Amino acid sequence: MGLGRGLAIGTLAVGLLVTSETPALAGNGPAYKDSWRPVKVRVADLLGRMSLDDKLGQMMQAERLGVKSPADVTTGRLGSLLSGGSSQPTPNTPVTWADMYDGFQKAALATPLGIPLVYGVDAVHGHNGVYGATVFPHNIGLGASRDPRLVQKIGRATAEEVSGTGIDWDFAPCLCVARNDRWGRTYESFGEVPQLATEMSTVITGLQGTRLDQPGSVMATAKHYVGDGGTTGGVNEGNTEISEQELRAVHLPPFKAAVDRGVGSVMISYSSWNGVKMHAGSYLINDVLKKELGFKGIVVSDYNGVDKIDGKTGFTPEEVEASINAGIDMVMVPYNWQTFIDTLRTLVQQGRVPLSRIDDANRRILTKKFELGLFEHPLTDRRFLKTIGSKDHRDLALQAVRESQVLLKNDHHVLPLLKHGKIFVAGKNADDMGNQSGGWTVGWQGTSGPVIPGTTILQGIRSSSSKVTYAKDGTGIDQSYDVAVAVVGETPYAETKGDRPQGMGLDDTDLATLQKLKDSGVPTVVVLVSGRPLDIAAQVGDWAGLVESWLPGSEGAGVADVLFGDYNPTGKLPVTWMRSAGQQPINVGDGRPALFPFGYGLHYSRHW
Ligand code: BGC
Ligand code: BGC
Repeated sequence: MGLGRGLAIGTLAVGLLVTSETPALAGNGPAYKDSWRPVKVRVADLLGRMSLDDKLGQMMQAERLGVKSPADVTTGRLGSLLSGGSSQPTPNTPVTWADMYDGFQKAALATPLGIPLVYGVDAVHGHNGVYGATVFPHNIGLGASRDPRLVQKIGRATAEEVSGTGIDWDFAPCLCVARNDRWGRTYESFGEVPQLATEMSTVITGLQGTRLDQPGSVMATAKHYVGDGGTTGGVNEGNTEISEQELRAVHLPPFKAAVDRGVGSVMISYSSWNGVKMHAGSYLINDVLKKELGFKGIVVSDYNGVDKIDGKTGFTPEEVEASINAGIDMVMVPYNWQTFIDTLRTLVQQGRVPLSRIDDANRRILTKKFELGLFEHPLTDRRFLKTIGSKDHRDLALQAVRESQVLLKNDHHVLPLLKHGKIFVAGKNADDMGNQSGGWTVGWQGTSGPVIPGTTILQGIRSSSSKVTYAKDGTGIDQSYDVAVAVVGETPYAETKGDRPQGMGLDDTDLATLQKLKDSGVPTVVVLVSGRPLDIAAQVGDWAGLVESWLPGSEGAGVADVLFGDYNPTGKLPVTWMRSAGQQPINVGDGRPALFPFGYGLHYSRHW
């Protein structure tokens, strides 16, 4: 496609031609429609043509289920739509997504100024809302890989799959630094130290490419700004009670890295900093993010984030005023966008929100839309449909799974498994695609069962060895087996529901399965499928081997490759492994004795 080059040349040429910032009419149309003009000129021209209602609509991001029909997009002059975690079109196929996107986009183009919309999804481990997409390991596993180049490739692959469905905006990466593993979003974190999220910010470069208007690029989002992983007790949407010095040392660095990489948007955290909701945190948004770090992109609220400022349902004029003046440019207001527009209009008319703030927000939004090339190419680039779940992308995911496994225990070289040995496989996570994919997989919270196509861990094991017997609950194990592999751990969860304020151990189902294996006397290798370290100190002594698999996603064969030694494990813990849940929060450098320290991970040392 010659577009990117054309624009680049255009920018240079026009830089010589256009000397004033005043919007001007080009030969045969408005300046903002002229791709040869610099983005700044186009933005100024367009802004000069917009009414207050155009500007207010531009700042709204509605849930696609929050518009009755595409016509709502036209009348509301909506700037953006999103599909929330469980908001998939029916049937859930890539083409249905692309058609849906194009339908909404045409409605946006039907507004008087024809400003295209930008559509966002949470593609947080691949294009995970789409059935048939490649589902990569969740961030915590990528943190274990310590491989920023791999992560950049994953960003690129994700962007291509997202592009195939028309979508232009990804609410990823989560650059949270998870300090307390009780937090249900720990798996969305690359690890407990800022260096990991900072290194893995390469994913932004993968997602956005070298230019946003390059085919197959999408706009990335650094989220959730800032301190989401530092809340007291690991409570989701909680209060991060730390000094500014600690906030800057632990939680801010990944966002600085993201801004330096040119991330297009930053999403505000639901959490508070010392009692002040981030959505009303003018100092951290206006002064630190926009002024000090020099962020020029779009600050987007979280889903209903403005509503939550005062802790009561529904937004008040005070909340709207506080959030927009705090520097939020686009509001994820899933359903009540009409009321939001009306409220904001009144605030502007009363002088409580300055028009200059509305203009600044619009400038930021429109700048990204021009940079994305949306005015020139508003509809789905269907050439990318074929990348969705492609062999290349699945191979990349397979490699990511291999690199994310962490070998934690290997007594008497029980691993790697012998391919000709007699193997008994058990555990609720051995043959469950939903469990091994975790939350944010087709549904918001994820679900157990065959939710997406792919290879389960059991299927991977079976393709490496022909002598495999499987019983989910461990029934039938006897001394004739050389080894037992128990694939146990957590079942899918996401925000809030995934918090574990009490125990962090294995559930009764897993404990019963493990007991059967133990009673048989057969050496047991445990494969933990979990979004975080679990409290296993009481059981680990029974196990000959232990592999932490995290949430590997659609390519379970990568786990088998490590178990059988086709890949010598290289993963290292991105978090400190507690001795007991009561130690939370436990992090490297705090002097607490760990079961396995941060950075721990074994290899196979001899040939087999
Ligand atoms: C989450 C965000 C997500 C948004 C849209 C929120 O509840 O906190 O991470 O991007 O929903 O799905
Ligand atoms: C949506 C998610 C969103 C959440 C926020 C869910 O219904 O699917 O995307 O993050 O609500 O509460």
